[in-house]
Amino acid sequence: MKYFIDTANLADIQKAYKVGILSGVTTNPSLVAKEGVKFEDRIAEILQAVPKVESVSAEVTPDALTAEEMIAQANELIKINNYDKNITIKLPMTLDGLEACRYLSDKGVKTNVTLIFTVNQALLAARAGATYVSPFLGRLDDISEDGVQLVSKVAEVFRIHNLEAQIIAASVRHPDHVTRVAMAGAHIATIPFSVIEQIAKHPLTDQGIEKFAADWKKSKFEL
Ligand code: E4P
Repeated sequence: MKYFIDTANLADIQKAYKVGILSGVTTNPSLVAKEGVKFEDRIAEILQAVPKVESVSAEVTPDALTAEEMIAQANELIKINNYDKNITIKLPMTLDGLEACRYLSDKGVKTNVTLIFTVNQALLAARAGATYVSPFLGRLDDISEDGVQLVSKVAEVFRIHNLEAQIIAASVRHPDHVTRVAMAGAHIATIPFSVIEQIAKHPLTDQGIEKFAADWKKSKFEL
């Protein structure tokens, strides 16, 4: 499973990229609004900050409701950073979103269909040519449904039908989500920086480092 970071915060993106574990970035209108920056400017900054990733998702704005409006916005977005191949157009899971997805995918543009809450929606998105489909775990858990089970079912259906769309487990809230979606067959988990920090840590790792340091200090060896 690959890791994407789910944020529009440039500092967090830079920190995760520097570690060398990032394969992509996802943003959404709420995440960009939180940063208080101009949408196109932030997407351009992100694309420049992470040149070696496979995908940077830029979502069409919520006022683009028809396929035509979404395609018009997508055409503006892909001009950013000279038609950078990594830019991925994130589209809502609606019939218009699917129509835009088919159009863009036929033109060779990467797409990410977002706000997926059922297997049927994931299958529709894959058949519309989506490069990525994004089931939202946390929001399903919030309404007492099982987000990880959805990822597992989507992975199974994609396997049975040989579908190439990659599953991005989204709305990931904690380390256990990350482990369980990896086991459920997600190709990617998109996670906030706070969760990246959490999954790198374990109290026994910290204790081990402290013990090694203390023992080393006691010894007379030097490097
Ligand atoms: C995914 O691409 C979305 O940006 C994101 O994961 C949504 O997460 P949330 O439910 O925590 O807002």
